[in-house]
Amino acid sequence: MAKVQKVEKIWLDGEMIPWDQANVHILTHTLHYGMGVFEGIRCYECDDGRSAIFRLPEHVNRLYDSAHILLMDIPFAKDKIMNACQEIFRVNQLKSGYLRPIAFIGDGEMGLFATSNPIRVGIIAWPWGTYLGEEGVKNGIRAKVSSYTRHHVNIAMTKSKAVSNYQNSILAKREAVLAGYDETIMLDPEGYVSEASGENIFFTKNGTVFTPPTTSALQGITRDTILTLFGEHKLKVVERNISRDELYVADEIFLCGTAAEITPVRELDNRQIGTGKPGPITQKVQEQFFKIVKGSLPQYQEWLTYL
Ligand SMILES: Cc1ncc(COP(=O)(O)O)c(C=O)c1O
Repeated sequence: MAKVQKVEKIWLDGEMIPWDQANVHILTHTLHYGMGVFEGIRCYECDDGRSAIFRLPEHVNRLYDSAHILLMDIPFAKDKIMNACQEIFRVNQLKSGYLRPIAFIGDGEMGLFATSNPIRVGIIAWPWGTYLGEEGVKNGIRAKVSSYTRHHVNIAMTKSKAVSNYQNSILAKREAVLAGYDETIMLDPEGYVSEASGENIFFTKNGTVFTPPTTSALQGITRDTILTLFGEHKLKVVERNISRDELYVADEIFLCGTAAEITPVRELDNRQIGTGKPGPITQKVQEQFFKIVKGSLPQYQEWLTYL
């Protein structure tokens, strides 16, 4: 579905190396036990022809926070990682694309208490279109509430974008897609709405915007962007626990994340949402978001790192 398009170079442990040489040993600790952290970042080609990475410092900060939470010490200064994130687009002559920094535990010791293995870092960039499809971004997707529960805060570290947190996401996503839906919405251990498999969630009712707290969900940077925009538009935004049936009677629902950008939900659990088409609040925020990432709104330049 989303096969990665090969590019020339990958950054691995401080060096730009050819794509085919960016391999790891089978005893790589993260591969066995799932302790690692990563980021998903987008770079857009702007309206003036330049390219800009969206909210790069925030993503790199989250990568370091994620690692700190997991007691992983990334052996590079943040600046070096920030520079490598830009350089990977330049060396591969990519004007836009998806950026994946990952920090993982290398090989050496095995077993759970392995403390001497190196912490390794890879940075990969490749061209990537819409995550939930052009059609989904334009006309909305069909979603299903998952039979899998989203994380409990003392089981998974929800403020860490940890690779292990995604087994839960993948199971939920597969369940929904195999049942004929596009995406899944997950409930937290208490039964309240948490997030989608790789996106945060918003809904609107009578002009007010609602979003769940990020207790069991990832604290999304796109979510933060949208909260900022709504704040500036003086729209009333309420962050509180949300039940699944509140979503059924919402006027509009949309999902947001770096990969999915802003994607409307037109149907949930076989119930039409609102008019069944992207509503005015969703359309407006979507329009503004795409203008911002493409550099055409001067007041949001600080969110862009030009290559
Ligand atoms: C589980 C999950 N929730 C939410 C998000 C949205 O986060 P962001 O907007 O920072 O990409 C992501 C994407 O990284 C995710 O994987």
